[in-house]
Amino acid sequence: MHAIRVSLGARSYNTYIGASALDEMIVHLRRAKAGNRLIIITNTTVLELYGLRLKETLLSAGFEVSLFSVPDGEGFKSLESAGRLYTEMSEVFADRSTTMLALGGGVIGDLAGFVAGTYMRGIPLIQLPTTLLSQVDSSIGGKTAVNYGRLKNQIGTFYQPRAVFCDTSVLKTLAAEHISNGFAEIIKSAVIGDRELFGILTRHTAELQAADGQLLETIIKRAAAVKARIVSRDEHDNGVRNTLNLGHTIGHAIESVTSFSISHGAAIAMGMVAAGRISVMMELMPPHELEALINLIDGAGLPTSVTGINVADLFNAIKHDKKATNGSVKFILPLRIGRAVASDKVTLDLIAEVLTEQ
Ligand code: NAD
Ligand code: GLY
Repeated sequence: MHAIRVSLGARSYNTYIGASALDEMIVHLRRAKAGNRLIIITNTTVLELYGLRLKETLLSAGFEVSLFSVPDGEGFKSLESAGRLYTEMSEVFADRSTTMLALGGGVIGDLAGFVAGTYMRGIPLIQLPTTLLSQVDSSIGGKTAVNYGRLKNQIGTFYQPRAVFCDTSVLKTLAAEHISNGFAEIIKSAVIGDRELFGILTRHTAELQAADGQLLETIIKRAAAVKARIVSRDEHDNGVRNTLNLGHTIGHAIESVTSFSISHGAAIAMGMVAAGRISVMMELMPPHELEALINLIDGAGLPTSVTGINVADLFNAIKHDKKATNGSVKFILPLRIGRAVASDKVTLDLIAEVLTEQ
């Protein structure tokens, strides 16, 4: 099984990637002397698909296991869900020698991570991501969060897991929309940090949606490695980690003005192209690199322009989200494929121009 290191001194850990990572986790638990008591947190969908089976396997291996599930959906990434989990955990006398296993997509990873990081001031956490997006992005790096009112992801902690196990075989049951969401983030990872990954994605564009086996594993490994490298350099998001937000400023605005009727992947795909156009207009990125990015996004079945969205609403949403200083906002710009930076030189006028042109 392939291991990718997140290097954070005493809090360093590995992300393991492979087709039988869930089975191999049991060997790891024994080797790491993780203790006998485990709590699996999952949602109702993943419970049926993988949760009950994992619980049985762990019980047969001699662990004491409790399993708690929350309903499926972003709406349940909440303080209410966290509160219910605290209660359920205290009822089974979970303590700091109990290890939490977060089995699910990014919603479960963020919620369970938040609960693990706050229950009794922190209990050991292992992330078991089951979506493509969570395997390449959200499970790595220790950002945990719940939503609170209008504050999306704003109530949270930095709480690193002890290990991450990405079992690629569970992706077989993932819906096409969530595969696309994962590929949007994978393309982002390639643009900000791995030119070779961009080349692999470009050579295999037609196969991406149905990718499996060695190709999918290679892609996941490379994208996860980009995230691990960035987090290792800037755990608390004060510098280079900002680049993981490429495409997200405009992407979040698109999600907001369309009341989340557009998927996250589609929204950040449009956001990445807009960021690329801005970069070209500022003469930071060569036009042929933008063309390559547009071709890849299009080939992956993701949208490349903000058609069908009210541009004035979109611009207002960006203006409200971003604090402008002297008419400019902080924005992540690709410089070339494989390198991006945070720039505070992007003017609101330029953003308006790019949105109107598309
Ligand atoms: P998700 O967790 O909602 O999962 C998507 C859907 O797939 C859900 O319905 C889920 O039940 C289902 N599912 C999960 N695994 C499955 C499987 N193997 N087979 C079939 N269905 C499966 O969504 P997501 O895209 O994984 O994550 C999005 C969340 O991640 C958002 O809340 C976002 O804020 C967060 N996020 C966090 C970070 C971070 O650094 N912490 C980074 C990016 C995104
Ligand atoms: N926004 C994703 C991350 O910083 O981990």
